[in-house]
Amino acid sequence: MSDDRLIVRPAVPGDADALVELGRDVAGEPELWLTYDRTRGDERRNVRGVQRDANVAVLVAETEEGIVGRLSIARDRSPLSRHVAEFGLMVAASARRRGIGSALIEEAIKWARDLGIVKLELTVFPHNAPAIALYRKLGFEEEGLLRRRYFIDGRYIDAMLMGLDLDRVEA
Ligand SMILES: CC(C)(COP(=O)(O)OP(=O)(O)OC[C@H]1O[C@@H](n2cnc3c(N)ncnc32)[C@H](O)[C@@H]1OP(=O)(O)O)[C@@H](O)C(=O)NCCC(=O)NCCS
Repeated sequence: MSDDRLIVRPAVPGDADALVELGRDVAGEPELWLTYDRTRGDERRNVRGVQRDANVAVLVAETEEGIVGRLSIARDRSPLSRHVAEFGLMVAASARRRGIGSALIEEAIKWARDLGIVKLELTVFPHNAPAIALYRKLGFEEEGLLRRRYFIDGRYIDAMLMGLDLDRVEA
């Protein structure tokens, strides 16, 4: 990536304010339909909980500008699907197209491999072209459409399911 001052690391409770600011900013973008209503206390509690649970992680991307991206990932709890983890991510509008989303996902892949997870999954709105382009570039494939998955502004909206088989991509 072009920004060699980028650090991707696990979140700590002291990141809570920055995480709230990032979440509110991205959720405020029109058409993204990303919901975010956490407070500083929620984020602190969440990060503390994550630090005690090996099956979940919150990764942050930090540059000289501060925290510009986050990724949350959780392994499935069921014994039948513990080999799968699902994640979501966001990058600050001012920091996009600099490889930060890719760097977060690459770190999440390492985290998942260390736990023996073999598949990553996510859902994305079919109109979210930047996110779909990012996932496709990293090898994710479309696995189906969850029709009428959300009800937003008086309309039912589909969600696309995408997946990445980690044993099919290079470590
Ligand atoms: C989707 C998102 C995380 C991408 O983060 P990013 O840091 O900009 O992604 P990267 O810089 O790593 O992009 C990697 C590649 O993805 C593709 N891509 C990313 N944004 C794109 C865009 N706006 N248009 C076309 N391709 C895009 C490109 O192939 C890009 O490589 P390139 O810049 O060398 O051409 C960011 O746009 C975002 O946070 N959006 C709002 C929240 C969101 O949609 N989250 C995902 C919900 S499922």
